[in-house]
Amino acid sequence: MPKRPSLIVVANRLPVRRVGAGAGARWERSPGGLVSAMEPVLEQFGGTWVGWSGSPGRGPRPFWADNVRIVPVALSRRDEEHFYNGMSNRTFWPLYHDAVRTPEFNRQWWGAYVEVNRRFARAAARAARRGDVVWVHDYHLQLVPAMLRELKPDLRIGFFMHVPFPPEELFAWLPWRTDILRGLLGADLVGFQTQAAMQNFSRLARRYTTAVGTDSELEFGGRAVRCGSFPVSIDFDAFDALARDAEVVRDAESIRQRLGARRRVVLSVDRLDYTKGIEQRLSAYAELLATREVSADRCVLVQIAVPTRDPLPDYARIRASVEHAVGRINGEHASPGRVAVHYFRRSLTRRELVAWYVAADVMLVTPLRDGMNLVAKEYVACRTDNSGVLVLSEFAGAARELRRAVLVNPRDLDGMVAAISHALKMDADEAAQNMSLLRSVVRRHDVRFWAEGFLGALTA
Ligand code: ADP
Ligand code: F6P
Repeated sequence: MPKRPSLIVVANRLPVRRVGAGAGARWERSPGGLVSAMEPVLEQFGGTWVGWSGSPGRGPRPFWADNVRIVPVALSRRDEEHFYNGMSNRTFWPLYHDAVRTPEFNRQWWGAYVEVNRRFARAAARAARRGDVVWVHDYHLQLVPAMLRELKPDLRIGFFMHVPFPPEELFAWLPWRTDILRGLLGADLVGFQTQAAMQNFSRLARRYTTAVGTDSELEFGGRAVRCGSFPVSIDFDAFDALARDAEVVRDAESIRQRLGARRRVVLSVDRLDYTKGIEQRLSAYAELLATREVSADRCVLVQIAVPTRDPLPDYARIRASVEHAVGRINGEHASPGRVAVHYFRRSLTRRELVAWYVAADVMLVTPLRDGMNLVAKEYVACRTDNSGVLVLSEFAGAARELRRAVLVNPRDLDGMVAAISHALKMDADEAAQNMSLLRSVVRRHDVRFWAEGFLGALTA
């Protein structure tokens, strides 16, 4: 009986990350859409997850977490500095998000990126047996598909880009653009969040490599390379069930009581990242307060911000800017026992997060650019009574599917003010109609639909 192919996931992040030091060190769930999407997939399919613990140094030996074999890849402090902080998050992250911060090009970082990608490729090759399926993820590991194919040509290799893929005008800035394109073309299937991202890639591959063909079917090095868009999603049923859990409902009620029972609750949940549009959102809310469209007595904005990439200068700057803005707004508009903006900089458990989604009348998800944004889909999945209004940036991948959200351009201050005001005033029937349609989209196109779509195309 031929052995069913195993699934090997390869990502910079493991599903859990090591936080704290010495006796205080512990594992916590890694933040980010990649882990939120892939965790239920591996739970369902079983398999191996190759990734970095998030802490420099030797790192733990392989271990089992439920039915997933965890294979840690060690990164030195230098790797963390040059591969992760440098090339991944000061070059690729800003460049792939409309250059909302100026990407930096550093040859030392590139050297570390090549070296660490080779280490991930070797780890994947060791974990995979003939005919297995290897699914490589995201901008940290764009060279792995080609490197892995060199090591083990008999594998099925898929690559999925969780972040946007930029147009030629931006991608062409990259001194190593041809290396990156060739690295990705080592996959049998390259997946993106949107059609636009897929077309950007195929156009660039034809422009800067010998690849020929259409946007969805390329030929490169005598091999077929398929490209497709597979919008990532969430475990709708898990979020829906949690939102109905009696204890979570009680927690949500307690949140509302503590915020002020009569107050409307406007919520935002993001990693504290400069691509998330938090400054623009606070400016719009400040204007609503200044024009007395809302008052701290009747409405409160809650910004939950997950610490992320703290050592990077642009992340220290966005944190300082957000915390300054929150202080300024509260200085102007708070009253005793009534803050205008609550700001919580911390990681929450899944249950705590769902209680906030249940407690919120309006959800602001207004990134300047975002591959998808799973928070938007999670909020929708938690609105079990069809109440609630989602305000969503047109520049989030999720806006392609969540058409019945209140769509907004986060750079348009008047538009943002009007959108939040519209959301707060929307009558219950219109809100319920919209939310019911949003829920049917996310329920149908959940994370299983996404994974089966991608893996089905990869193994076809
Ligand atoms: P990104 O991948 O850029 O972080 P997404 O919105 O796609 O953006 O994914 C964010 C993920 O992180 C979501 O699954 C969300 O549930 C999770 N998350 C966001 N804020 C927190 C928090 N404070 N604590 C724990 N998880 C969080
Ligand atoms: O989901 C997009 C993403 O960039 C993932 O690749 C990444 O794991 C996550 O956001 C969080 O970023 P980091 O891994 O740097 O904490």
